[in-house]
Amino acid sequence: MFIDKFKVESPNVKYTDDEIHSVYNYETTELVHENRSGTYQWIVKPKTIKYEFKTDTHVPKLGVMLVGWGGNNGSTLTGGVIANREGISWATKDKVQQANYFGSLTQASSIRVGSFNGEEIYSPFKSLLPMVNPDDIVFGGWDISDMNLADAMARAKVFDIDLQKQLRPYMESRVPLPGIFDPDFIAANQGSRANNVIKGTRKEQVQQVVKDIREFKEKNKVDKVVVLWTANTERYSNVVVGLNDTMENLLAALERNEAEISPSTLYALACVFEEVPFINGSPQNTFVPGLIDLAIKSNSLIGGDDFKSGQTKMKSVLVDFLVGAGIKPTSIVSYNHLGNNDGMNLSAPQTFRSKEISKSNVVDDMVSSNGILYEPGEHPDHVVVIKYVPYLGDSKRAMDEYTSEIFMGGKNTIVLHNTCEDSLLAAPIILDLVLLAELSTRIQLKAEGEGKFHSFHPVATILSYLTKAPLVPPGTPVVNALAKQRAMLENILRACVGLAPENNMILEYK
Ligand code: NAI
Repeated sequence: MFIDKFKVESPNVKYTDDEIHSVYNYETTELVHENRSGTYQWIVKPKTIKYEFKTDTHVPKLGVMLVGWGGNNGSTLTGGVIANREGISWATKDKVQQANYFGSLTQASSIRVGSFNGEEIYSPFKSLLPMVNPDDIVFGGWDISDMNLADAMARAKVFDIDLQKQLRPYMESRVPLPGIFDPDFIAANQGSRANNVIKGTRKEQVQQVVKDIREFKEKNKVDKVVVLWTANTERYSNVVVGLNDTMENLLAALERNEAEISPSTLYALACVFEEVPFINGSPQNTFVPGLIDLAIKSNSLIGGDDFKSGQTKMKSVLVDFLVGAGIKPTSIVSYNHLGNNDGMNLSAPQTFRSKEISKSNVVDDMVSSNGILYEPGEHPDHVVVIKYVPYLGDSKRAMDEYTSEIFMGGKNTIVLHNTCEDSLLAAPIILDLVLLAELSTRIQLKAEGEGKFHSFHPVATILSYLTKAPLVPPGTPVVNALAKQRAMLENILRACVGLAPENNMILEYK
């Protein structure tokens, strides 16, 4: 059975006019490696830590500013949200299609809330805590191409033509603000697009982005802004001692107009200065150590990197399943070909390298979780190929071959072929990223012994379900396995309303 919403009644939860306050017992373990009676042993001690969570229930009017607004993802997300808000339907060769949010964790997935008369009861994911309704988001942003959003949507060739016709009146007056352009960071084949750029030194460009954010907020009367990079993949910037390794060095480098500060880092700097959450949906190292340092010191949310939309999502499910089943993946080979502008940009070796790095570490946590299958340091062969095939447009093909060792030296090969519009996968993920980033800024917590409530760590690991190479604070484990990432997010939101983590034990029926 499916219910729309629910309220938790518990001595541990208090709903007031302004907030939900919950007391939550976090069941965890403490490990020690000790000499007991002459031999070293691992001792595991279960322990309970009392946490308190406070969630501000005032949902703000949210502005979302996309860097790369006129790209395939930017125009698809904007059009998709308008179509949902306006209740647009359109004729396809199969049927009359209604706008929906399929593919969005917050808008189209559900959580289990319990059992009732022997039936499992589910509710929308978004019913856990008050979240911004996507229909109410005001979109804006920057692009180095001055094309309006209606023409950008046509250029993207993602939506059916009947839908495009209906969306055009809502889209054509939307024109991206000039963006920060540095041809050294993206493929040379993007140069012809750059007719809408911010002039001046890097510091002046940052100041312009700060001004843009303030004016956008003012003009649209939004309470909060989230900025998200869905612009072209950049090459990695060199991390150099004295340049971008610390907050002080990065800020000094900005003063000196150093060429190695990438456009994405410049936008991120502007956002941290404004304490506006900044999310990076592409693979490059926007968050150089100096930027992370600054964000932590400013307590300003940063999250990334690289949307986890298709092939990697499958990988982080399949390898988790295989390793979890005691099967040993030994070779993982992924081919992609696509024909959109992202594919064209990735055809340059330096931008492809960013994607390759981002895609390469996604099975590490699963491999290192099973010391029966893998020796320390052993790793499956893992190869990623991306080719640009213009004819295919946004319809991306992903072909994966997984070879594993099974019982008694047997081999098993699984081959997947995935075809789908890339932007229709990415747009709902962008939506989830901005909604969850906004929500996470309204949650405060404290563990027993901590005097004051504080926000989550500014490096937002809570978003990791949605990213290919989750950015984590220094010294924090990276989790790539999709089910674990989803459970982490869901269980933290459950804790905020005093619900136990979903443990799937269903003891009531045992
Ligand atoms: P796109 O090429 O259609 O759009 C990117 C837009 O960014 C373009 O309109 C371009 O003019 C603009 N741009 C480039 N540099 C800029 C700058 N410095 N400032 C402002 N605007 C700038 O690409 P698409 O398909 O929308 O993808 C966007 C990004 O998302 C790419 O980096 C891609 O790798 C990443 N991504 C996409 C996924 C997907 O499934 N679509 C999955 C994972 C990551």
